[in-house]
This record gives sequence, C-alpha cells and structure tokens, in this order.
Amino acid sequence: MKTAIAYLSYSGNTAETAEIIETKLRSTGAMVDMHRIGIDRPLNPARYDRLFIGTFTWERGSTPDEVKDFVREIGYKPDNIAVFGTGDTQFGGDDLFCLAADKLVTFYASKWEALKIEQSPRGAQENKIDNWLKGVLQHEPIFA
Ligand SMILES: Cc1cc2nc3c(=O)[nH]c(=O)nc-3n(C[C@H](O)[C@H](O)[C@H](O)COP(=O)(O)O)c2cc1C
Repeated sequence: MKTAIAYLSYSGNTAETAEIIETKLRSTGAMVDMHRIGIDRPLNPARYDRLFIGTFTWERGSTPDEVKDFVREIGYKPDNIAVFGTGDTQFGGDDLFCLAADKLVTFYASKWEALKIEQSPRGAQENKIDNWLKGVLQHEPIFA
C-alpha cells in the first residue's frame, strides 16, 4: 500500500498529527511519503493508493491559501482521499472548529469524516487518531 500524507502546518500541530499517522501507517507495513504542502515539489496523487491531506483552519473557518493552491495543483478529485485537521474551538466554537478539514471532505466527497484534533494531538487525542485511522484502513465510513 503506497500512501502519501500531504499537510500544511505553521505552528506544528498538524505536522505532529501527520507524523503520528505516518508512524501508525508504517507499523502496518505501508510505504509512506510525507509531503509538505507549499514546500515540497508537486505531488502526483496517481502514484498513491491512498492520500491523506492535513490542514489547520484559519481565520473564521477559512482554508489556508497554500492548501487551496495544493488542491488546484492536483486538478482533479481522486477518490482515495482522507482528511485530517487541527483547530481550536476557542476560535468560534463548534461551527468553525476544523472547518477547513470539513470543506475538503465535502469537496473530495471523501468516504471518511474528517479527523478533527484540538491543538496538539499528543495525549488523550491519540486514541481518536487510532479509531479514525482504523476506519480509513478498513475502507469503512466512520461517524465520529
Ligand atoms: C488567527 C487564527 C485564526 C484561527 N481560526 C480558527 C478557526 O476558525 N477554526 C479553528 O478550528 N481553528 C482556528 N485557529 C486555530 C488553529 O487552526 C490551530 O491552532 C491549529 O492547530 C494550528 O495548526 P498548526 O499548528 O499545524 O499550524 C486559528 C488560529 C489562528 C492563529
């Protein structure tokens, strides 16, 4: 199983989440390429069985420009995309929490709900990552 994890992170939370997902996937024997959105060379999704996209949410629920550019760069809607996001409920409560991740799920008609992490994924939220990842790996929609 060849997997890419593409993510954007300014202050490290989304990168940490990406790295935890990477470690867990590698432990299942998957080959994983990490892709830093806006930094690494363009990614060809067709080379991967599975593509994870991770984003934080920016002002008033918006999607960071780098992620929008990345989506444009891909140019089509692969059907193997799973989305994770980090956010902070202090910025507008549940309505805006990780909204950028939700928007990507809708845009790609992803089979899976977005994984939503409040700030750093370390600690209690690692369980949440485990459960979500299990759902993705089983190809089953999950309802978190
Ligand atoms: C100016 C600003 C606006 C933000 N707006 C939102 C928001 O609308 N919704 C949300 O869930 N998080 C919001 N956040 C929180 C970030 O998404 C959160 O800190 C995220 O984990 C940062 O990711 P990173 O550490 O990978 O850069 C905002 C943060 C900042 C600094």
